[in-house]
Amino acid sequence: MAAGEDRAPGRVGVVGLGVMGGGMAHRLLAQGTPVVVWNRGADKAAPLAAAGAEVAATPAALAARVDTVLVSLADQAAVESVLFGPDGVLGALAPGGVVLNTSTVAPAFARALAERLAGTGHRILDACLLGNGQHAKDGELRFMVGGEPEVYERVEPLLASLGKEVRLVGGHGQGATLKLLLNMLMGIEMQALAEAVVLGQQAGLAPESVLQAIAASGFSSPVMRFKCGVMGRRAFERADFRLALMHKDLGLVRAEAQALGVPLAATDGAHAVLTEGLRRGLGELDCAAVLTVLEGMVGEPEPAP
Ligand SMILES: NC(=O)c1ccc[n+]([C@@H]2O[C@H](COP(=O)([O-])OP(=O)(O)OC[C@H]3O[C@@H](n4cnc5c(N)ncnc54)[C@H](OP(=O)(O)O)[C@@H]3O)[C@@H](O)[C@H]2O)c1
Repeated sequence: MAAGEDRAPGRVGVVGLGVMGGGMAHRLLAQGTPVVVWNRGADKAAPLAAAGAEVAATPAALAARVDTVLVSLADQAAVESVLFGPDGVLGALAPGGVVLNTSTVAPAFARALAERLAGTGHRILDACLLGNGQHAKDGELRFMVGGEPEVYERVEPLLASLGKEVRLVGGHGQGATLKLLLNMLMGIEMQALAEAVVLGQQAGLAPESVLQAIAASGFSSPVMRFKCGVMGRRAFERADFRLALMHKDLGLVRAEAQALGVPLAATDGAHAVLTEGLRRGLGELDCAAVLTVLEGMVGEPEPAP
């Protein structure tokens, strides 16, 4: 099919069908929104095809059929190649088309994307999200959006069908900034939780009783309570949020903080342990597997951040 030949209004493209992109695509289909999907590896597209999505052969083939492209990719390098690479989205998206980048990236990267698109007729927003894969499937995400208000207004109904909270928080990059602040808290919380469990364990307490006490205490957040259960069951294999992605996000936080001259001792410590987790080959596990990393580090010198 030639580019743009079949660009039906209301049809949405979803690029990247991992935990979050797959969840959002399922949600859109369940809401009756026609969806075209693309994923680097073909395996993740099959369940969506079965649920009624059209599967595009390349990001460009997808972009030729929609006006709005939701991007949910692991990292900046993936976003760069899928948008600008050969058969990339921007080679085929019609003028006026909107890219909603829901991937967590550096604020400076989000601003640079907007600058590169300026004058092309394409528009982009950093539409960063909070929530897990189940929230994505259930339309329970929270969106923190950065960009131009008139573009935001156009896509707000779409985002509202995916999330229970949708907010324009500022200009390009500000959605990414707020998202990184929140993930910084989660990374520190996971590290704090793992430290409490391992220290208690070394002092003779059963991990289950430490986790139960923390979960029931006022010190626990809803996410920490949920992760207490994951740690208790050692259910790290089916990752809600991969350890490698938490490492990426804390790395982005540290770069931002360094540029702004803000010391982040807790983030630095958590990042160092995640780096050790990657070195031990645990990056594909859920980020709660920081517990396993710390357990393996007992008796070893502290890693440098
Ligand atoms: N999981 C969460 O709770 C959560 C919450 C908020 C935000 N986020 C952010 O949302 C984004 C997606 O997270 P996720 O948990 O859905 O990740 P994920 O399950 O690991 O999926 C990552 C996706 O990126 C694709 N990808 C990776 N490298 C690529 C490349 N070089 N070229 C093309 N595609 C590439 C993968 O394709 P393959 O299948 O081919 O590997 C997959 O579709 C990340 O930026 C993450 O930080 C995640």
